Amino acid sequence: MNTSSRARVVSGMRPTGKLHLGHLVGALHNWVALQEKYDCFYFVADWHALTSEYANTSAITASALDNVADWLAAGVDPERSTIFIQSLVPEHAELFLLLSMVVPIPWLERVPTYKEQREQLVEKDLSTLGFLGYPLLQTADVIIYDGKFVPVGEDQVAHLELSREVVRRFHQFYGEIFVEPQPILTPTPRLPGLDNRKMSKSYGNTIDLTDAAEDVTKKVRQMYTDPKRIRADIPGTVEGNPVFMYHDAFNTNAVEVEDLKTRYRAGKVGDVEVKTKLANAMNAMLEPMRERRRQVMSTPDRIREIAVEGSRKARGIAQHTMERVRDAVKLRY
Ligand code: TRP
Repeated sequence: MNTSSRARVVSGMRPTGKLHLGHLVGALHNWVALQEKYDCFYFVADWHALTSEYANTSAITASALDNVADWLAAGVDPERSTIFIQSLVPEHAELFLLLSMVVPIPWLERVPTYKEQREQLVEKDLSTLGFLGYPLLQTADVIIYDGKFVPVGEDQVAHLELSREVVRRFHQFYGEIFVEPQPILTPTPRLPGLDNRKMSKSYGNTIDLTDAAEDVTKKVRQMYTDPKRIRADIPGTVEGNPVFMYHDAFNTNAVEVEDLKTRYRAGKVGDVEVKTKLANAMNAMLEPMRERRRQVMSTPDRIREIAVEGSRKARGIAQHTMERVRDAVKLRY
């Protein structure tokens, strides 16, 4: 039961490597803001990382703690939010198992991310039960805490739809015990990578949250921009231009952004000026995070402690829920 007067928010992130700007605007900024109004549970989805990384698991725990350090640096506050690690709350797996009894396999095969990822990640054998069950485990992650809202990107909306269908089906057999979760879409549109493809570690086109200021400046200088604009006096296109998408996302000086756009469209500004101003704005935004990260990293044991303490608290709630679920399923001995 959620005894807090505030509605509960649950969200997770897979520990598959360093966090980049896509994670910041696509998730972390929203996570931080939601702490004001909700009782938030944020966790490292290490079992979800295994669904595709099962052949190479050696980096998962290091990524997990490194990611938590970034969350803290971004402003996720362990005093207000519960930060935890999925595999330290094994009740998620028990609930996943019980849910799996009532979920028809075609429901899982229909999920768009399942079809897409199997086609895209051909180098991995994803014909596993674990990978098929990905959105069902995600369902367990959320409903075990009575999560009402789930901040996610667009690609995850179908997972939440499945979650609600699964909850309704479970309820048909065992009575009403769960809350049907709703997505809260991240307000920022998806940020492209430096080369205008999807931002992803595997493309090498990210700006990482741990990049130093000089690296950010260097990367911004190499960014893809309007390819038709081979000289500064040729009018350029702002819409869909990653350099301006980044300005919109990171430059808080709206007057400067408008001025640059106007001059860019008129062929009255060089790329160097546009990119220098962008790098400066981004570094101004990232600097307080770098500072907090330095502080966080000065006591690395504290990061683990926060995650372990949070997991203990989360587990208490999850155990409570599982009492209720076992009663409903009539598995009480
Ligand atoms: N599937 C999510 C992603 O890739 C990660 C995730 C796992 C998650 N469990 C969750 C997100 C529960 C929200 C709630 O981004």
